[in-house]
Amino acid sequence: QIYWYQNQFLPKDEVRISPEDRGYYFGDGAYEVIRVYHGKLFEADAHYDRLVRTAEAIHMTLPLSKQELLDGLNELVKRNQVQEGTVYLQYTRGIAPRAHSFPQGAEPVLMAYAGDLKRPLAAMENGIRTVTMDDIRWLRCDLKTLNLLANTMAKQHALSQGADDVILHRQGTVTECSASNAAIVKNGRIITHPANHLILHGITRMVMLRLAERLGIPAEERPFTLDELQAADEVFITGTTVEVTPVVSVDGLPVSGGQPGPVTRRLQEAFSEAIR
Ligand code: PDD
Repeated sequence: QIYWYQNQFLPKDEVRISPEDRGYYFGDGAYEVIRVYHGKLFEADAHYDRLVRTAEAIHMTLPLSKQELLDGLNELVKRNQVQEGTVYLQYTRGIAPRAHSFPQGAEPVLMAYAGDLKRPLAAMENGIRTVTMDDIRWLRCDLKTLNLLANTMAKQHALSQGADDVILHRQGTVTECSASNAAIVKNGRIITHPANHLILHGITRMVMLRLAERLGIPAEERPFTLDELQAADEVFITGTTVEVTPVVSVDGLPVSGGQPGPVTRRLQEAFSEAIR
């Protein structure tokens, strides 16, 4: 596997990472996961914009232009011969002795790789089981930073409960999942948490809302409660790796009769069309 590290394409084993990279000490950096379909980056512009937004919010300046970055990522996809997969990229604030204050003059460190990943067809077909859990993350969940401890703990909690993922909530208001956004359908309307500081502004969520509009399915971006989740006609999640995946149970109780619902199915079909 070929990595892109500090503007060089290298076999993974030749990538040499400093122990003083602030990514290790502090999770001090930004990242993106971009889908590759048919050898092409999906929604690359939107991912770039989000990366820049995160970087600016954490006071980091990216050293590469948009064109340089996208050219590098496309080259990475090519060198790894990825047709259906993902690109992962991260920028850390740089290399410096451990100190909380931002280092003077440190250069951001870029690391990226591309790998195969099949579309999750079985989960998309059959749906997943979820458990609800307190959202203990910080108040800037809109930033795609490397600090994912709460997300990894949440995912592991789901697995330990025999479920596939968590649905997080703050005092009864549903936010999102460990690595995807959540939505419900009630009386034919899609409801999903507003894109504010409490959720990641998912690009798949954005694509889904665009498709819904095109299909004439009404959608509301507003907070909804755990009670609404339990009483929903349908529940689904969206994300780069999960696309549009139905949820068939929440805390052991079936959703939409334990079967993926019709609105979810229409969105899935439209999504499959959009990436063809
Ligand atoms: N996660 N919410 C969270 C907390 C996420 O980590 C992600 C993506 C999403 C969905 O965003 P998008 O549609 O832009 O992928 C929502 C990536 C895939 C990850 O961390 O692996």
